Amino acid sequence: MDLGDINLFDPDTYVDELPHEQFAYLRKEHPVFRHEVADGGHFWCITRHEDLVTVNRDAASYSSWRRTALTLGDHDTDALEQQRMMMLNMDPPDHSKLRKIVNKGFTPRMIRELQEHLADEARQIVADGLEKGDVEFVEEIASELPLIAIAEFLGVPREDRKIIFDLSNRMIGSEDPDYQLDEGVAQEAAGEMYAYAQQLADDRRANPRNDIVTTLLQAEVDGERLDELEFNLFFMLLAVAGNETTRNAISHGMLALLENPDQQQILRDDPSKLDAGIEEILRWGTPVMQFRRQTTKPVTIAGVDIPEDEGIVFWHISANRDETVFDDPYSFQVERSPNLHTNHVAFGGGGPHFCLGANLARAEMKVVFAELLKQAKWEQREPARRLRSNFINGIKRLDVTLTPT
Ligand code: HEM
Repeated sequence: MDLGDINLFDPDTYVDELPHEQFAYLRKEHPVFRHEVADGGHFWCITRHEDLVTVNRDAASYSSWRRTALTLGDHDTDALEQQRMMMLNMDPPDHSKLRKIVNKGFTPRMIRELQEHLADEARQIVADGLEKGDVEFVEEIASELPLIAIAEFLGVPREDRKIIFDLSNRMIGSEDPDYQLDEGVAQEAAGEMYAYAQQLADDRRANPRNDIVTTLLQAEVDGERLDELEFNLFFMLLAVAGNETTRNAISHGMLALLENPDQQQILRDDPSKLDAGIEEILRWGTPVMQFRRQTTKPVTIAGVDIPEDEGIVFWHISANRDETVFDDPYSFQVERSPNLHTNHVAFGGGGPHFCLGANLARAEMKVVFAELLKQAKWEQREPARRLRSNFINGIKRLDVTLTPT
């Protein structure tokens, strides 16, 4: 392997397998690497765990707002303006203010209450799968609960769930030919989602309830509340951020446990190890492979000088295989205890944008795997098929047979 072999930009790189060899080479030889892009652009790759954490926590030097946290390439100016209004793409102090308000909707009590309900939903999803026997796991099992959870969380009435399902699926752009949609489709779906959020907020303003939408609308920090635009955009961000990510975490967990039957057996023998197992699934699967920042001033990372206004891409997927942090990083070990809640960076490196839905995602994964382990034995029928993307580590098809335990 040499630098000429590195191509982390092309989505085709990720279709057959993850480019772990490239990442291992970069971590060892060029942990801060200026990656050229065919169209003449470039971005800097950060591949070590320690450097990722440093960049992720230093929002003053590495901005999410300048060029957004998304995309390795460049946005056109209109898209940039729109994207910057989302919390994910803000910097302090605007970000901190908004985050304080929305935090009020994500309290442990609210997640706990939701988890009880999600356990019932998970039981039913697995029971339905068992009835069919042969399932396409991604669509029939893994994608169900994240959609239900977001709809419930946002207080979308049951009869409207289907609308939110369809809109959020249409809003997720994709580089994979199997899911490519007309450019207008995602935009149109976003418009409809915005209007839906508006309608829901209007209703809760007029008829406050004991739910999260009402909490979010009434939450006040330093005398300020979410305005209409902020609420609607936050609603849209949640609908997208909690959907494909959690679906892939569940699919990666299934695949890893199928490919490592000894690890699956550990969880079957002692379900109390599931919490640790979920953290290992998150490390192993790392559904969001990277996020981007832009330097606000000249910086030095691991001895490499980088000027102001350069794109920095930190790779969660590489940091989660960093051999200086994880022993034997390419083996999947559900009892890897130091990993618990601390070391892996699947939800970010602990900075101000740390995943707001982390505990909700964990709760969903826990109830689904608890039911899958309790109710069913599993067998893989075909090799899994991967998503063509340089952003989401995705499984798009996983054929499994479920039989009663
Ligand atoms: C396994 C599933 C998930 C993964 C792997 C994941 C991953 C991430 C990552 C890597 C970040 C950026 C962290 C940073 O830059 O420091 C993030 C941010 C975020 N996530 Fe998640 N996420 C997941 C599930 C969810 C769920 C279920 C929700 C919503 C209910 C959610 C909502 C958000 C939001 C709103 C942000 C932006 C926070 C901010 O800008 O302050 N995520 N997520």
